[in-house]
Amino acid sequence: MSAPRYTTPAIALHWFMALLLVGLFAVGLYMHDLPLSPWKLKVYSWHKWAGVTAFLLLVLRLAWRAGHRPPPLPAAMPRWQQAAAHGLHHLLYLLMFAIPISGWLMSSAKGFQTVWFGVLPLPDLLAKDEALGDVLKGVHMGLNACLALLVLAHLGAALKHHLVDKDDILARMLPWLARKP
Ligand code: HEM
Ligand code: HEM
Repeated sequence: MSAPRYTTPAIALHWFMALLLVGLFAVGLYMHDLPLSPWKLKVYSWHKWAGVTAFLLLVLRLAWRAGHRPPPLPAAMPRWQQAAAHGLHHLLYLLMFAIPISGWLMSSAKGFQTVWFGVLPLPDLLAKDEALGDVLKGVHMGLNACLALLVLAHLGAALKHHLVDKDDILARMLPWLARKP
């Protein structure tokens, strides 16, 4: 019997979103330090469209997950590790939800409407308020710092399972790594 694994849509969404989030993070840091120019405004717009897209993909992913439960973790895995894995996954979902919302709230408070792909204007969630915009900018940055730390822990755990414990946890998300029985 082959080792339990996530469904193909769950795997595709996991890896596509991982790439998108790393890209958004890098572009966010890059654009922050650009001098004011038409290029800077363009990159800000791209960041905002891609961020809203990440949010919509998250909704799709959660809907899929609600109907397709992940395979159970190996019974041999200690209880504390199972709890830590579940807790970390919940926190990652929470951040994938809170980061785009904080970005949208920040842009609204700063008075810059988000127009998805330059076509679909999204409603501003807050009235213009510079001071609140600055607070929300701090929130957006702080949540991103948490995401970076948790993703590093998540990556470290996945590599430890694969290289040290030599179990099939990483192969649940990357099936071609599955070991022969
Ligand atoms: C999961 C999605 C997102 C990620 C990972 C992300 C990540 C980041 C990062 C790393 C920064 C740089 C922070 C810094 O300079 O320290 C940033 C800045 C920014 N983000 Fe996002 N972001 C996301 C979604 C959004 C969305 C949906 C919006 C708006 C609709 C948005 C609007 C902004 C703006 C306006 C800035 C620049 C703040 C400034 O320097 O004035 N972001 N983002
Ligand atoms: C922005 C980057 C990433 C995010 C936000 C993220 C998020 C998540 C979440 C929320 C889950 C739980 C899925 C569920 O049970 O519903 C998960 C599972 C998983 N992720 Fe990631 N991930 C990221 C990057 C990575 C990377 C770089 C690796 C490893 C190289 C990785 C390996 C895995 C594995 C192996 C699982 C399955 C764990 C299990 O079987 O319980 N992820 N990821």
